[in-house]
Amino acid sequence: MSHIPLFTPYPLRNVTARNRLWISPMCMYSVFAEDGIATDWHLAHYVSRAVGGAGLIIVEATAVEPHGRISARDLGLWDDAQIPALARIAHLMAGCGAVPAVQLGHAGRKATVPGAIGPSPLPFSADYALPQAMAQGEIDRVIMAFQQAARRALAAGFQAVELHAAHGYLLHQFLSPLSNRRDDQYGGDFDSRIRLTLAVTAAVRAVWPAELPLLVRISATDWAEGGWDLEQSVDLARRLASEGVDLLDVSSGGLTPAQQIRLGPGYQVPFAQRIRQETGLATAAVGLINQAQQANAIVRDGQADAVLIARQSLRDPYWPLRAARELGAELAAPAQYLRGW
Ligand SMILES: Cc1cc2nc3c(=O)[nH]c(=O)nc-3n(C[C@H](O)[C@H](O)[C@H](O)COP(=O)(O)O)c2cc1C
Repeated sequence: MSHIPLFTPYPLRNVTARNRLWISPMCMYSVFAEDGIATDWHLAHYVSRAVGGAGLIIVEATAVEPHGRISARDLGLWDDAQIPALARIAHLMAGCGAVPAVQLGHAGRKATVPGAIGPSPLPFSADYALPQAMAQGEIDRVIMAFQQAARRALAAGFQAVELHAAHGYLLHQFLSPLSNRRDDQYGGDFDSRIRLTLAVTAAVRAVWPAELPLLVRISATDWAEGGWDLEQSVDLARRLASEGVDLLDVSSGGLTPAQQIRLGPGYQVPFAQRIRQETGLATAAVGLINQAQQANAIVRDGQADAVLIARQSLRDPYWPLRAARELGAELAAPAQYLRGW
């Protein structure tokens, strides 16, 4: 076993990631994708990252309803017909040693397909559609849609699910007072704004096997006056932990065009660290983590349990193998490639 913290295995329930360097979900907006069905492009893309040594790979935001797509080129799991193509990807990723995970999401008012819905009739910006405020029946339907999509993710062979409650999409829209102006049980005080996220989490946990991990991605702050913030994220983390969430993937922003983000290397890591320290819930850090030493220090110093990379993995799908070599860790190349190693 490796003595380099980033390359030590990480157990989540009955699943063990071979290391703590994971691939963050990234929409491909692929020209080949139709009706939410994954294509050979997705197969090549995701499997090459598994060959590249990542411990866990989160397939891009996958819509639980057709009008919950960010774009018409998104993947979906609202229909059984979408299972087989994702099953090929999940099985081959697992065969290459990576834990196959999928992010389930609903774009809400940030959908660019017809039928945008949201907590309140407030558009994201002038360039976006005016969302229809959701009635109770629609809220119930969305909760069920997440649950059914999780069943399909299981049928496809995924070993982890991540709920997308970040970046200004539907669940985040309910969390933030800037986008949620409801005065029913789903809006107003903190307990009401987190109700939908907790209900979706409980509905998914109810069908997602106890042996398999459940992750949630949040935006720790809206980076905007009067918005969702780190204090609320810490409180939400505690509530999610008691709903059976195993790890919080801590991102930020995306709720409002008025956000004032302070960007810099690892700029979101302190959020993951604070949530982990205050709640005891495991966290993953993401955002401008591009150096092997930097990623290793995050895990070594207990700032997060795992590190997610996105754009670095677009630049170099084999970056985990490269980082392992740089750090002097043992990370086996695929058997098929050993003559080149
Ligand atoms: C092309 C692209 C697509 C993305 N799609 C998603 C997505 O589907 N779900 C999500 O939560 N984040 C998405 N993100 C955000 C990344 O997961 C990540 O949080 C962000 O890029 C910061 O990490 P980085 O600095 O390593 O790129 C996307 C980012 C990129 C560049």
